[in-house]
Amino acid sequence: MNSVILDELYKNIGKYITSDTICKKLNISRIAVWNRIKGLEKLGYKIEAKRSVGYKLVEEGIDIIIPYEIKRRLNTKVFGSNIEYFRLTSSTMDEAQYMIEKGCSNGLLVVSEEQTDGRGRQKRKWLSPKGVNIYASLVYKPHNMSSVKSIALMFATSIAIVEALSDFGIDNAKIKWPNDVIVNSKKIAGVLIETKSESGIIKSVVIGFGVNANLESVPDEIKDTATSIYLELGKKIDRAQLLVNILYYLENLVKLIESDGESKVIEMWENYDTTIGKKVLVISANEKVEGVAEGIDKNGFLLVRTAGDDLKRVVTADSVRFLDEKQ
Ligand code: BTN
Repeated sequence: MNSVILDELYKNIGKYITSDTICKKLNISRIAVWNRIKGLEKLGYKIEAKRSVGYKLVEEGIDIIIPYEIKRRLNTKVFGSNIEYFRLTSSTMDEAQYMIEKGCSNGLLVVSEEQTDGRGRQKRKWLSPKGVNIYASLVYKPHNMSSVKSIALMFATSIAIVEALSDFGIDNAKIKWPNDVIVNSKKIAGVLIETKSESGIIKSVVIGFGVNANLESVPDEIKDTATSIYLELGKKIDRAQLLVNILYYLENLVKLIESDGESKVIEMWENYDTTIGKKVLVISANEKVEGVAEGIDKNGFLLVRTAGDDLKRVVTADSVRFLDEKQ
């Protein structure tokens, strides 16, 4: 019902539509129309109402991430073709896993305005305040995916975010191994990939990503290490458009991986990477490795040359610190 009203408002953008037009379309009373309009305002729409004239949508500055707004911008074939939207959930990762158990289709997008238990890599908490950022998990069901391809998939997600950020005027975003998206030495987005395999074959992947978008201030505990698009640009952006752009780039990169172009994706990742060549301290659950990051191997593991000239392969890390930089 909301979508019918929104269709009418968008079709007549800049003009008033009469309450009667909506009454007739939906076969509801004027008071019911008014209630619907109030409901849309609660979702964040700015609608001007003029007595005996009607309603007009103010399009400027719209930042609403409901499925209607995502779908009207969507230019992908599969990713985001189904959307599950939550105002509040524990984590979109859990919701996506649950949908997979229920047999959801490939490309399902789970998005939430807020998460109570948002999580990052290494079981870290992902701060997820309401209505300002992107919290999304995409279900991807690959056909016969090798482990090298699944690494490329992880890299593809951070590349897609970097490319989408550039569409919004942030053109200096970089990727810190494995897939933190960094702007001016601070983290702006993170990627979390969870795969389910059966007999060594990857059955489903949940590609989770969080982007600090319109966050106006970063909590003290992460002030020195985190940033947002708003803090970088000094203006708010349209989150639904950013999300759609990420999905667009991601779908194209995934197509490339599916057609055996994973090495191209890894090359792209290397172009955006900010880790290789730097002096790093890598802290993992059971070791600390210090040295110069020399590159990644074909599995996406970080290769670190230590002072003793050993080449260490780092599989996962709690944190990667750049020793010659502030962070
Ligand atoms: C990281 O950098 O450690 C990864 C952060 C991933 C956060 C996103 S927000 C949407 C999805 N739901 C979660 O609970 N986590 C991911």
